[in-house]
Amino acid sequence: MSDIAVQSETPVNPLEELGNILDSDMRAVNTLILKYMDSPVKLIPQLASYLIAAGGKRIRPLLTLASTAIYEGDMTRAHRLAASVEFIHTATLLHDDVVDGSEERRGQDAANLVFGNQASVLVGDFLFSRAFQLMTEDGSLDVLRILSNASAIIAEGEVMQLTTANNLSTTMDEYLQVIEAKTAALFAAACEVGPIIAGADTAQAKAMADYGLNMGIAFQIADDTLDYMAQREKLGKTIGDDFREGKITAPVLFALAKADDQERKFWHRTLVDLNQNDDDLQEACTTIKKHNAIESCSNLAMTYKCKAIEALRLAPETKLRNLLEELTDYTITRKF
Ligand code: IPE
Ligand code: IPE
Ligand code: MG
Ligand code: MG
Repeated sequence: MSDIAVQSETPVNPLEELGNILDSDMRAVNTLILKYMDSPVKLIPQLASYLIAAGGKRIRPLLTLASTAIYEGDMTRAHRLAASVEFIHTATLLHDDVVDGSEERRGQDAANLVFGNQASVLVGDFLFSRAFQLMTEDGSLDVLRILSNASAIIAEGEVMQLTTANNLSTTMDEYLQVIEAKTAALFAAACEVGPIIAGADTAQAKAMADYGLNMGIAFQIADDTLDYMAQREKLGKTIGDDFREGKITAPVLFALAKADDQERKFWHRTLVDLNQNDDDLQEACTTIKKHNAIESCSNLAMTYKCKAIEALRLAPETKLRNLLEELTDYTITRKF
């Protein structure tokens, strides 16, 4: 046996690996994104490129590309639809940061802070419209139905969230309904359009949609946990936005379920009355940890991760399918 230690290579995470395999496709998507965000009204490309150039994980367009490639669909069509999906996502981020009053996105000042709420909302509308132009250029009514449906559901989810915020009687079911709508619906649609344009059968398209839906739910549970527990520099977003807004998310729901009278008063003051002091976020984190709420969130995310993997079984066994399976794990263990 050799006494020379074998250096194992640093494992690349599945998202990076997907990006590597689909690199030339992703480049084509980026070219389309640049082309479609252009406008003679210069504030539009200025604001859009401010957010888009800051990066982002590009997880949704990668899902569209991978789900098309798995079914050997036409990648030129996938490029357009992946760009469309990323535009929908970018538009919702612009709107979401205005609604949430967020100050940081992708490691920089949020667009609403730099360009103002009005410009953010209107450029969000522009990007939504561009997403629809890309879909109509594809020409498939099925694709149009799937993506327009997802767009309406996202908006419903964000509005539904307004009605559950600051309300301690929000149930876990209501919370799950909100995140399924605001986040998972787009993951589902991003995955479903692949088999659809590849002409796969309905069961296969439904399975890919189920994969995306369940992974999207797990993704948002992780996001809601990160909002309390992440390192700000890694996350690229301010910690505690959900707390400051009084959003009733999974970590709070688990902590609330075990709250004593004093803790209930604390949650009421901070999340319902929005009467918060400087130390309150720290206290919220301590209480959340005390009740093992982070572990409960991760178990909850795990159940959706398992459902996502189960749904994937119907897809052809390929390297890409394996990566999509690994991606479910990355989604819930991610730090950003
Ligand atoms: C942020 O999505 C919005 C949520 C659904 C939590 P991402 O975490 O995918 O954002 P980017 O695109 O990587 O910045
Ligand atoms: C994201 O929810 C939902 C959409 C963008 C539609 P969050 O409000 O939790 O997302 P972040 O944390 O601002 O990225
Ligand atoms: Mg937000
Ligand atoms: Mg969040």
